[in-house]
Amino acid sequence: MIEQPRIRVSISVLGTDFAELGHTLELVRLSKADSIHLDVMDGRFVPNISFGGSIASDIVRASGLPCCAHLMIEQPEGAFDAFVGAGVTELLFHVEATRYPFRALELLKRSGIRRGVAVNPASQVESVVPLLDSVDTVLLMSVEPGFGGQSFFPGTLAKVRTLRSAADRAGIPLRIAVDGGVDASNAAALRDAGADELVAGTAFFQAADPPAFVQLLKGV
Ligand code: DX5
Ligand code: ZN
Repeated sequence: MIEQPRIRVSISVLGTDFAELGHTLELVRLSKADSIHLDVMDGRFVPNISFGGSIASDIVRASGLPCCAHLMIEQPEGAFDAFVGAGVTELLFHVEATRYPFRALELLKRSGIRRGVAVNPASQVESVVPLLDSVDTVLLMSVEPGFGGQSFFPGTLAKVRTLRSAADRAGIPLRIAVDGGVDASNAAALRDAGADELVAGTAFFQAADPPAFVQLLKGV
C-alpha cells in the first residue's frame, strides 16, 4: 500500500442547531478536527434540503477551517461556482447526479480547489475507477445520503479495500473518505481497510469529549 498521510477527520455540521452555529464552529475548532464537511442537499437528489452557497460562505468565513462541500444535488455542475465562490477548499459531487462526470471534473479543475466524487452505498465502487486520474478524493457513502444519524453500512469496508487496491495498483495517492454513521465502533476497521479521511456528524456532537473523540477516530 502506498504510504498514506495521517488520518483526517472532517465534521459534518448538518445535524447541528443552526441557531447556535457560532458555538458549533468553536467546538469543532477546539476539537482539532481537520476540516468541516458541508452537506448540501436540494430536496431532489435526496429527500432533504439543507443550505446553499451563501450559508456555506458564512461557515467558511466563521470557522477558520478548511471546508469541503459534499453536493447531494442534481446537475451539480450548476452549483460549482457558488461553492467555489463561497471559499470551500474541496468540492465533491455524486457520480449518480450527472451524466458527464469527466466534464464536471474538468470544470472543477479550472477552479484550483481539491475535487472529487461521492458514491452511494448501492453504486459499485468500480464505477469510479476510470475517474481516479481526475480526482483528489473519493467519498464513499456508508449510509443512504440525505440525513445524519443513520446506521453505518458494514459493506463499506470492502468498498474501501477495493478502492484502495485499485488506487495503489494505478500508483495514485487517492484520499478515500467515508461518510455516514462513522463512530468509535467502526473507525479502526475503516483505517485498516485503507480509508484516510473519516467524516462524522452525530457521533461527534454526542461525544462527551469531542477532542478525545477526534483523536480516537485518528487512531492516535
Ligand atoms: C448524509 C451526509 C453525511 C451525514 C454524516 O447524507 O452526507 O455527511 O450528515 O452524519 P452522521 O455522522 O450523523 O451520519
Ligand atoms: Zn456528507
